[in-house]
Amino acid sequence: MFETLKPLPQDPILQLMQTFRDDPRPDKVDLGIGVYKDDAGNTPIMAAVHEAERRLLAGETTKGYVGPAGSAGYNDAMASLILGTDNALIRDGRTAVVQTPGGCGALRMAAEFLRLCNPATTVWVSTPTWANHLPLLGGAGLTIREYPYLNRDTLQVDFAAMLESLEGAKPGDVVLLHGCCHNPSGADLDLEQWQDVTALIQRKGLLPFVDMAYQGLGDGLEKDAAGLRHLASQVPEMLAATSCSKNFGLYRERTGALVLISETASINQAATSQLLSVIRSHYSMPPAHGAAIVETILGDSDLTQQWQSELGGMCERILHLRQAFAEALAPAGDFSFIARQRGMFSFLGITPEQVRALREDHGIYMLDSSRVNVAGLNDKVLPQVADAISSVL
Ligand code: LMR
Repeated sequence: MFETLKPLPQDPILQLMQTFRDDPRPDKVDLGIGVYKDDAGNTPIMAAVHEAERRLLAGETTKGYVGPAGSAGYNDAMASLILGTDNALIRDGRTAVVQTPGGCGALRMAAEFLRLCNPATTVWVSTPTWANHLPLLGGAGLTIREYPYLNRDTLQVDFAAMLESLEGAKPGDVVLLHGCCHNPSGADLDLEQWQDVTALIQRKGLLPFVDMAYQGLGDGLEKDAAGLRHLASQVPEMLAATSCSKNFGLYRERTGALVLISETASINQAATSQLLSVIRSHYSMPPAHGAAIVETILGDSDLTQQWQSELGGMCERILHLRQAFAEALAPAGDFSFIARQRGMFSFLGITPEQVRALREDHGIYMLDSSRVNVAGLNDKVLPQVADAISSVL
């Protein structure tokens, strides 16, 4: 069976992570994979997470199965975090949230669920989008179409081109939107644009699917969810995938959630039963630990406050780095878009050859597309990085 298989290249993001780890240069800088780093270049465990783990270890009484939907307490807490407390959709029973193994688990289970609803489902994704969206959605058998999103010259959203392209979508087609902190461009829709895209989705009978992996790392927890919440308040049906990897720093614990919104509570019950059966046939049920941490934090007002203040600090640090990076690069050109964009990522807009020169000659790592993880910078390395970039331009 196996001897005819050809070796595949690694996923470019994971390959870059490995090459960086193998680089012996002490002054190397990792602006590759999307993990948050502090000023010392570490990806810390948040204090609220540590405390929640301590409480869990002291109080945990069983390792019994959690069930395909995961923990109800976690799911309820995530519903409020994503949709806002006291949201009518939650009150009316139109929403179901299921715990998933990371945002990837949510994306894949949504794709499998969509294929069950209609094997011919087409999903429209932005160009560019996170590279793993394509195998996660396409691998489940969905047809992928792309809509233009970013103007490559200005590195800003080309909203007119996006809308024009989505006019070509057919009723029942799915539109994947990034809730905030667009990966890889950092260029987000503003609220007015969310309203316009919502109107198009309604008029054409499309199904919105929002991937929100970075809530809290753009402009804060509430503002980052504003577009998603507006959309959810207007449409009869919607899907959303979210992740606790970045905003709780739980990367390896694989903690995410899938939100399913239906027109009525009874439709939602039936749809959720189908979704749970899809989950059961894939991984049976999600891992418990990460979700138990989140549930512990969000179920305790002191811990919630502590977590929010830590997350707020991370968000502010990224905003500061964006500003400082744009300023440090100003002598080399107009990089002011970096300060205007949000989340961890921006494109520098430089060539793959320049990216390679930065990696090989200066030990500065970013994706070949020139996507940088701004959160990988710090005030100490900023001048070194800005000089190196200027030298390859
Ligand atoms: C990224 O885009 O770098 C992150 O979402 C990590 C990943 O798994 O690709």
